Amino acid sequence: MTIAFTPLRPQFAAQVTGIDLRQPLDDETVARIDAAMDRYAVLVFRHQPLTQEQQIALARRFGPLDAGLRKATGAPTRFQHEELIDIGNVALDGSVAQPDNSKLIGVLANQLWHSDSTFQDLPVKYSMLSAVVVPAEGAQTQWADLRAAWEALPEKTQALVEPLVGRHSAFHSRIQLGDASYTEAQLQRFPPVDRPLVHLHAASGRKVLFPSVHIESIRGMTVPQGRLLVAELIEHATQREFVYSHEWAQGDYVMWDNRTTLHRGTRYDLSQRRDLRRTTTLERHAT
Ligand code: OGA
Ligand code: MN
Repeated sequence: MTIAFTPLRPQFAAQVTGIDLRQPLDDETVARIDAAMDRYAVLVFRHQPLTQEQQIALARRFGPLDAGLRKATGAPTRFQHEELIDIGNVALDGSVAQPDNSKLIGVLANQLWHSDSTFQDLPVKYSMLSAVVVPAEGAQTQWADLRAAWEALPEKTQALVEPLVGRHSAFHSRIQLGDASYTEAQLQRFPPVDRPLVHLHAASGRKVLFPSVHIESIRGMTVPQGRLLVAELIEHATQREFVYSHEWAQGDYVMWDNRTTLHRGTRYDLSQRRDLRRTTTLERHAT
């Protein structure tokens, strides 16, 4: 099969054909996917239903896996693998989660613009989602191109933002949604992590504007000023021209680079089943 990458937006996101993700990938194919990720940041594969085993084996080809927040909270999983992250509204017993299920706060927080796990002090790289069951309406996932967003910022704003550092917290998005139920012990388990608001993506040599709903404050600014600046930058970065919106079909597989994009889910009827499963890789083993 010939591998082809067809852009979905002029400079951002591409659909991949000619690769069967269920088969072990050879080194050359992995290298071609990595190169395409450096260029397009989001890659879409269609018609690739995966078993849990296949999904884990595939993800490991791109680096060590991180299990996200769950590895520290010890919350139970319905999957065979620790590293499979449950995105969607399925309860532990396999039924659709009831409205009072605490799991839904995470589902809803994912509808705010973020990059995965920036609140952990880990070199997070790709996330990869496999769609098992999708609702008939809504529930798109959207990605914003943070390199194009940086390049489109007025010079004055670039100069203001470039030296700044954002403080990322695991709880900030959830607290914004009215979930204030965290104990001091939980809060202390995930101390905030400082990250520059602008960084260089070495593989493309392009700079990245890196705002996120996980940022609770900006170093050297008052809390309200910092939050307003983050809101302004998210608004800028997520203008239509920078966004790819994915309409899911069962069997779709989408991978993205968390270092160069923001993403969010969109609203859907939570009584409809949605079963998406994610893996997330690190650039290297955490030290
Ligand atoms: C994710 C995520 C949003 C959604 O998978 O990391 O934030 O609901 N998904 O599609
Ligand atoms: Mn996410």
